[in-house]
Amino acid sequence: MHAAIKEVLISEAEIQQRTKQLGAEISADYAGKSPLLVALLKGAIPFLAELLKYLTIDCEIDFMDVSSYEGTESVGKVRIDKDLTTAVKGLDIILVEDIIDTGRTMTTVCELLKERGAKSVKVVSLLDKPSRRVMPIKIDYLGFAIENKFVVGFGLDYNQKYRNLPYIGILKEEMY
Ligand code: IMP
Ligand code: MG
Repeated sequence: MHAAIKEVLISEAEIQQRTKQLGAEISADYAGKSPLLVALLKGAIPFLAELLKYLTIDCEIDFMDVSSYEGTESVGKVRIDKDLTTAVKGLDIILVEDIIDTGRTMTTVCELLKERGAKSVKVVSLLDKPSRRVMPIKIDYLGFAIENKFVVGFGLDYNQKYRNLPYIGILKEEMY
């Protein structure tokens, strides 16, 4: 275990096992279709890579980088730092995210892709922190719901570090 980690919350084996189940579910639901998986940079990269291994349908991938911030209105705002290269009009989209926290990012990206004419938009997330939700959002495929704790690893960072850990862990207090 990494010296900065206090506790492993979800092991590499658990992540793999659960992602395999999600991949099977998605493959069954999208049988005969060819969805575009849109992963949100940078945190969703390891989860996307894991999930892709278990998809038996034809699919494409693309990436978006967005940062959410609280505007003066109640609706969260999102700044697009990197946009898709694929035109989404008429496509079945599966948004791939590392964690849904307040729900601001996902809500805004979902709405944006629908505005651009996506045929359907569904969400797959490795983690969910439901206690922190501000915007209601339907997570169609969820890995694990967790308590309101700050986690790192498997794509999730603290100040851009720890994304490379193969498990989801909790940082030691002295690391903050
Ligand atoms: P929200 O749902 O718009 O609040 O934003 C979710 C984003 O916040 C995720 O994509 C992460 O980048 C970040 N985030 C939320 N909770 C955590 C955490 O526990 N560890 C690391 N990043 C987090
Ligand atoms: Mg993120």
